[in-house]
Amino acid sequence: MARGTRSARGARPPRKAPEKVGRRVEFTFLPGLEAVVRDELRSVVGDKPVTSVREDAVAATVTGPLHTLMALRTVVAPFLVLHADVPRPTSLLDGRQFPRLVETVRDAANADRRAVSRSFRIDAAGRDSAGFRQVADQIAAATRMRHDPQEGTTLLRFRRSGEGWDVLVRLGNRPLSARTWRRSGYVAAANATVAAAMVRLSRPSPDDRVAALMCGSGTILVERLLAAPSRVAVGVDLAADAIAAAQENLAGAGLTGRARLFTADIADQEWAAGGPFDVLLSDPPWGDKIGDHAGNEELHTLLLRRAHDVAAPGARLVVLTHEIKIMARCLTAAKDLWRPVSEQKVFNKGHHPRIYVLRRR
Ligand SMILES: C[S@@+](CC[C@H](N)C(=O)[O-])C[C@H]1O[C@@H](n2cnc3c(N)ncnc32)[C@H](O)[C@@H]1O
Repeated sequence: MARGTRSARGARPPRKAPEKVGRRVEFTFLPGLEAVVRDELRSVVGDKPVTSVREDAVAATVTGPLHTLMALRTVVAPFLVLHADVPRPTSLLDGRQFPRLVETVRDAANADRRAVSRSFRIDAAGRDSAGFRQVADQIAAATRMRHDPQEGTTLLRFRRSGEGWDVLVRLGNRPLSARTWRRSGYVAAANATVAAAMVRLSRPSPDDRVAALMCGSGTILVERLLAAPSRVAVGVDLAADAIAAAQENLAGAGLTGRARLFTADIADQEWAAGGPFDVLLSDPPWGDKIGDHAGNEELHTLLLRRAHDVAAPGARLVVLTHEIKIMARCLTAAKDLWRPVSEQKVFNKGHHPRIYVLRRR
């Protein structure tokens, strides 16, 4: 049958849907979190293959709108990847390559619809060379974005790739790990992507009664409540300044009133009145910025006992700690209370903490 003619029954032949053009995106994360990042990426790439690039990056083809990537929580930053078989970065300025480069920069700058980027910077070996200055000037002229080598919000990385070059352009103004909800810092605050990984590993459900023990500035509690509602949510910490910070951060996330905060010792009774809890999340002091190594065996023992006291049958306890040997001894001593489910090493700025997932016996 000729194109455009009707079939014998008079119906038009089905139209082929236009092929969606995929964008290559590289997702960076803290080494150790690849499995949990891959799990989260399924929500944006479905069954499409995700390939490992380095110990801190995977790549995938994304066909949906780029702004959906801004909601990822275990990823440090997504980068659009443009590959060009050119001998040097300045060759990207030629008439065939340059429109692709400009489009990539524009798409990345507009990905966060709440905060469009208006400036850029280049991160590459030799970025102060005449060649990179020429690239920057041309991009600035074509995109009308300001080239600010120090503070530019859209980050462009250049790297050799095979016979050519890759340009990686970060989506959004800042890394995703720099949460917009963080109004108040805290000396021992957890990395938010690690907190988000802990939350995913706890398998959140809206029926959960959640307790964050030694919650500090509330990083894990905020990430938990952003991931899913809860029946009950409680945060407890000894330090009044930590609880004040948690209050502000909950407000920053639009979660005021969704959690009760207690300035108290976890050994106290009052904070546990909302239990028993189905999910318990904790980041005890690592003994460097806060707390001391000498007291940490006692504190980890208290944490496992106290969490067990207030936990519902089958509850999940997820602990982030840097005290690996202490935790191993405490888990052995608490083997009748908690069954180890998984143990995940994470690399974070010279620290190698682990995430322990435990189930109440
Ligand atoms: C590593 S910090 C938690 C940081 C937190 N994850 C955040 O992102 O801000 C450990 C916290 O444990 C608290 N803490 C130590 N011993 C405690 C205890 N016995 N009861 C309650 N909180 C305690 C400290 O005040 C500190 O805020």
